Amino acid sequence: MSGREWWRQAVVYQVYVRSFADSDGDGVGDLPGITSRLPYLRDLGVDAVWVTPFYRSPQHDHGYDVADYTDVDPLFGTLADADALVSRAHDLGLKVIVDLVPNHTSHEHAWFQAAMAARPGSPERARYLFRTGRGADAGEPPNNWLSVFGGPAWTRVGDTDQWHLHLFDSTQPDLDWRNPEVAAMFADVLRFWLDRDVDGFRVDVAHGLLKEESLRDQRGQRTEVDHFEMGGLAEDAPMWDQPEVHEVYRQWHRILAEYAGDRMAVAEAWTSTVEANAAYVRPDELHQAFNFDWVLAPWSAPAFAEVIERTLPAMAAVGGTPTWVLSNHDVQRHATRYGGGAVGRARARAATLLSLTLPGSAYLYQGEELGLEDVEVAPEHRQDPSWFRTGQPGRDGCRVPMPWSGDRPPYGFGPGTGQPWIPQPDDWAPLTVAAQEADPASTLAFYRRALALRREWLRDAGDDVTLTVLDDVLTVRRGQVTLAVNCGSRAAPLPAGETLLATGPADGGLPPDTAIWVRTS
Ligand code: GLC
Repeated sequence: MSGREWWRQAVVYQVYVRSFADSDGDGVGDLPGITSRLPYLRDLGVDAVWVTPFYRSPQHDHGYDVADYTDVDPLFGTLADADALVSRAHDLGLKVIVDLVPNHTSHEHAWFQAAMAARPGSPERARYLFRTGRGADAGEPPNNWLSVFGGPAWTRVGDTDQWHLHLFDSTQPDLDWRNPEVAAMFADVLRFWLDRDVDGFRVDVAHGLLKEESLRDQRGQRTEVDHFEMGGLAEDAPMWDQPEVHEVYRQWHRILAEYAGDRMAVAEAWTSTVEANAAYVRPDELHQAFNFDWVLAPWSAPAFAEVIERTLPAMAAVGGTPTWVLSNHDVQRHATRYGGGAVGRARARAATLLSLTLPGSAYLYQGEELGLEDVEVAPEHRQDPSWFRTGQPGRDGCRVPMPWSGDRPPYGFGPGTGQPWIPQPDDWAPLTVAAQEADPASTLAFYRRALALRREWLRDAGDDVTLTVLDDVLTVRRGQVTLAVNCGSRAAPLPAGETLLATGPADGGLPPDTAIWVRTS
């Protein structure tokens, strides 16, 4: 991979705004809360923080339904609070990436309000995807597409023959990116935040902006929603990953390049092949794309090796830089995915060490450094729009607010004694930041050590890696570091070299569910 821009080898920490730190005691995290905890992130050893949407929003999808892209929701603070966050982060040597949601607006956005008040065929409606329904009385949706959150992707406008498209919730109407007004609006939004000194953008649903123009039926349509293994995995997906979307990112590349400081954008693009994913990071497009194959890989040495071997050449072919993602706010936490409990937590640490070995950047999700697992959220507390549309548990389990200190909820998440917006479990006292800071064997201590060692030994170690898989043990050599991770069920020999860090006890052999870094000369 070419270039030495900061983001190419960065460790980026995702903050889910509602659940990170609450400064005012309303049970919901906010911008001043984040700012107050930035020294924690500096001490953890990350390079950048990605902050999920904090713009004006009715919160039907917790901020991914934006009513005003250039203002802060009062729930989270003010524009001055956003400026203070960016400037404090910069003082501490941290970059800031903000979330951009261009596929859809909120139904409360001024444009959608105007569209609903206007007549069919009007310029106001032409910013969104309104179409006439099918059937004698237009009572059927215009095509057979399903919402990612379940149910039809269309909602009827009152009792008229018009319907509007929403690939997500009905409160998230999709924009028509074939309308130049839409591109112009987002160019202004990019500049608005770049002028406020943000270092980059995480582009929400980057693969969805353009739909096949005919809006034809999807063939071989899925009968159930592949939750967050989005339509990209379906064989025929006229709503995702259309060639024209890349023109949008060429324009954004030019805008970002107008600013000093290697501003960047990272795509959330669920695609069916790694080559399709790499297309988003061609030299004149976006800078990175999340590697969701890494999230989807099971706990298995050959599976991990296969994703690495697939990712590296595909990214190299476009001069791109790979990313390694294990958890985020849309998927089960990796400790839970790998089996949960002591085994899941051990495997999660080991997989993290593997991610941190590889060339490119790593994206961490808040709370993974504490070894948090998904929480079984009681039905009456669930808030994910997909729960309301499908009755499936949804994504609330990975969004439970952070435990900072103390021995009962809200564990220092905010002032006061009440439960936060999603209740925290009673047994989190040993997992708080304060408890783990006092324990050198904690997951937090492990993350701090691993990030410090990565800076020292791996960040500048180049792109070459040598992989070996033997008996479900994956060995990765990069620069002077060798990683071995044991995904099997029997102890394996330790790699030769001086131990830098192990994810668990490893005397005389590498136990199952354990990884180690050794240094060779
Ligand atoms: C992305 C976000 C997810 C959100 C969806 C709709 O996938 O990560 O949280 O619900 O887009 O904006």
